[in-house]
Amino acid sequence: MAKGRKNGLYGGVSEELSALMRTGWADTERHDLEQAEQAPYAAARRAALSARFPGERLVVPSGNLKVRSNDDTYPFRPHSAYVHMTGDQARDCALVLEPREDGGHDAYGYVLPRDGRDDDTFWIGYTAELWMGRRLSLAEAERVLGLACRDVRELPGRLAAGADVPTRIVRGVDPALEAAVTTDEERDTELEDALSELRLVKDAWEIGELRKAVDSTVRGFTDAIGDLSTAVATSERWIEGTFFRRARLEGNSVGYGSICAAGEHATIMHWTSNDGPVRPGELLLFDAGVETHSLYTADVTRTLPISGTFTPVQRQVYDAVYEAQQAGFDAVKPGAPYRAFHEAAQRHLAAKLVEWGFIEGPVDRAYELGLQRRFTMAGTGHMLGLDVHDCASARNEEYVDGVLVPGMVLTVEPGLYFQPDDLTVPAEWRGIGVRIEDDLLVTETGHENLSAGLPRTSAEVEEWMARVAG
Ligand code: GLY
Ligand code: MN
Ligand code: MN
Repeated sequence: MAKGRKNGLYGGVSEELSALMRTGWADTERHDLEQAEQAPYAAARRAALSARFPGERLVVPSGNLKVRSNDDTYPFRPHSAYVHMTGDQARDCALVLEPREDGGHDAYGYVLPRDGRDDDTFWIGYTAELWMGRRLSLAEAERVLGLACRDVRELPGRLAAGADVPTRIVRGVDPALEAAVTTDEERDTELEDALSELRLVKDAWEIGELRKAVDSTVRGFTDAIGDLSTAVATSERWIEGTFFRRARLEGNSVGYGSICAAGEHATIMHWTSNDGPVRPGELLLFDAGVETHSLYTADVTRTLPISGTFTPVQRQVYDAVYEAQQAGFDAVKPGAPYRAFHEAAQRHLAAKLVEWGFIEGPVDRAYELGLQRRFTMAGTGHMLGLDVHDCASARNEEYVDGVLVPGMVLTVEPGLYFQPDDLTVPAEWRGIGVRIEDDLLVTETGHENLSAGLPRTSAEVEEWMARVAG
């Protein structure tokens, strides 16, 4: 009798049970699976990666399950570089590019194939296929991914046998694979940077996915705002839950923790506790994004008067942020420095803060010294894609010090935040936080606001609230 687990209610597995479990299963090999729509795009991305590292082996792991406690795990999210290079989302896998003599690479997907029925692996243990769901066989994975696939359990041995091949690995993703290779930290960082940079310009398939993410997000905002009266009767949690339902219905999940910040919570940049009251007369800063089944996310913010109408001070702040965002929009075009949208928006806000007497002018001096940052807090935007803050490892010269190129997708999200305990502003301004955030695609001629389906001016927002309230 094989021993059972500690505190399990079954003492173990008899040989008779083991034999019974291994027999009587149908052949469920899927011969109908077709190549994923994304596969040729992933192949082109791998070719671009290959061209950067001739003669070197590259290992891009997907990552492993993270235990929450005992046999309970956190939801698995594969590393974005692995998803980008393969289109796959499975755990415990790795893409390996093996260098060829001609300077190119052969690509292999090392995957954890489905378990056979000739031992007990398929049904014993909480990660067993019978408990967690069917995986793909090697043949199925090859067909879907359009990639030669091998069993990932062979990978440590293959890496050890080919230890003379110069190798780079994306670190911090799969400790066991990392232990199986000898690599240099600085050179591994160069691989991570390159993978990030290859995501700066989205291909046509990715742009389609980002459109889906934004469209679902618009519907999620419409759901949440349409049900604001229930939030007023309950709490911010209702808004989070309403949006989450749309995210799960149409996509994979939310792309980041939704920020449902009513009243003074709006001044807390990463307010994701969402457990506060929603009171008429205050503002709701709502920042959320649906992540598609393919793991691309939107990132949109609207700030709304809960009663339906802005107070004069709320409107003054809102309109200043709107104008700053518009100034940022105007700077988003191909060939423009990436920083231009940030500088235009921040300069506008600095000018308003000087005009209101909250920071000392002249505006140029205030801006050069960054005095507006007391109230604007964050940068004005970031690249968007598989990660909400996408391409984060790209080198500065390719990203923040680079220029905009058609196919880039970025957020423009200026804000003003007056902390509730800020004695430098009048009492009426304290606890007000406003951010407006949209997702922009850089086009050949300028930009397209992908999230234009949501109202943006203060008048449009009030009209929206009135319409929703019915
Ligand atoms: N929701 C995170 C951000 O706007 O960057
Ligand atoms: Mn956001
Ligand atoms: Mn953002």
